[in-house]
Amino acid sequence: MNDRRVLVFGSNGLLGQKVAEFLVRGTPASVTLSSVENTPVRPMEPAEYIQADITSKKDVRQVVAHSEPDVIINCAAITNVDACETERETAWKVNVGGVEHIIEAARRTGAMIVHVSSDYIFDGKNGPYTEDDRPEPLSYYGKTKLAGENSLRASGMNYLIARTMILYGFAPGVKQNFALWLIQSLEKQTPVRIVDDQFGNPTLADDLAYGLLRGVELGKTGIYNIAGRDIVSRHEFAVRLARAFNLDASLITPVKTASLRQPAHRPLKSGLITLKAEVELGIHPSTIEQGLAVLKNQISRGKRRAADSGPVPGQPHGRGKH
Ligand SMILES: NC(=O)c1ccc[n+]([C@@H]2O[C@H](COP(=O)([O-])OP(=O)(O)OC[C@H]3O[C@@H](n4cnc5c(N)ncnc54)[C@H](OP(=O)(O)O)[C@@H]3O)[C@@H](O)[C@H]2O)c1
Repeated sequence: MNDRRVLVFGSNGLLGQKVAEFLVRGTPASVTLSSVENTPVRPMEPAEYIQADITSKKDVRQVVAHSEPDVIINCAAITNVDACETERETAWKVNVGGVEHIIEAARRTGAMIVHVSSDYIFDGKNGPYTEDDRPEPLSYYGKTKLAGENSLRASGMNYLIARTMILYGFAPGVKQNFALWLIQSLEKQTPVRIVDDQFGNPTLADDLAYGLLRGVELGKTGIYNIAGRDIVSRHEFAVRLARAFNLDASLITPVKTASLRQPAHRPLKSGLITLKAEVELGIHPSTIEQGLAVLKNQISRGKRRAADSGPVPGQPHGRGKH
């Protein structure tokens, strides 16, 4: 990263925290972190933290003008797929409007924009997908993610879009992702029903963060699929997770997606082919077992830290101007 100035939006989220950690601990970049909450979920000195809501053009302009970044990494998004189906206006404002505000502000400083998209831009009829396959989103979330991509592609700015899927990992105060929810449920001996007809690559958030920064370091632009090495059904992932955490896999019952009657339609035969990123960025995404071993470590370290220092991880951290 040399002596570049990097601004991260959504720095309190799962991916945002991983990107922030890599930047602050592993590079000499000058880093500004920003999320919608009033405070950072954890201290990340020497990075500066500035509260900003990306749906506010003014907030985004101010943070960008203050930090004068060479690179903006946007990890902010509304990621609850079913909520996006029912709260469409909010989903659009963040996932599309927010990206447009970042583009507008970046234009003033000439910053490169790194953005994260999803396999939900595809219909899941014939995955796994390459970067050149034709998007056909089934859900409103997928539509917002595709529209965000399109805004960047039409902007004339330097951009890097990473498409990813089934992000998992642990960081203080993050919302539950599939893996954390499953661990918690199985630890409580709660039976769970997991779909066996949705396929894709579970992705360790740390691998994605590393891939994004490799892309920046190498000056890459365009679209890259960055996702885990293995393509499996959700059910298969769940069973392998139960094994890796010594939890009771017999609590997991396979079901079909249609039986869940979720508000948002999901792509079934999905998955992302990561060859381009592996060759051009030189990354080697984790297998499921490798990723789960990292997750196990992260959770134990998180528990140890919580025991040592009181209830800091997961502490409520109030939102800004909502
Ligand atoms: N999670 C997945 O499985 C998955 C799959 C494919 C692609 N992706 C993409 O990967 C990226 C990172 O996802 P993630 O899993 O790290 O999500 P996450 O943990 O939910 O992080 C997103 C962050 O953005 C913040 N945010 C929401 N609205 C905002 C606003 N108006 N202004 C500023 N910040 C705002 C959220 O704050 P609050 O928590 O307060 O809302 C949260 O801290 C997203 O672009 C997502 O679409 C995720």
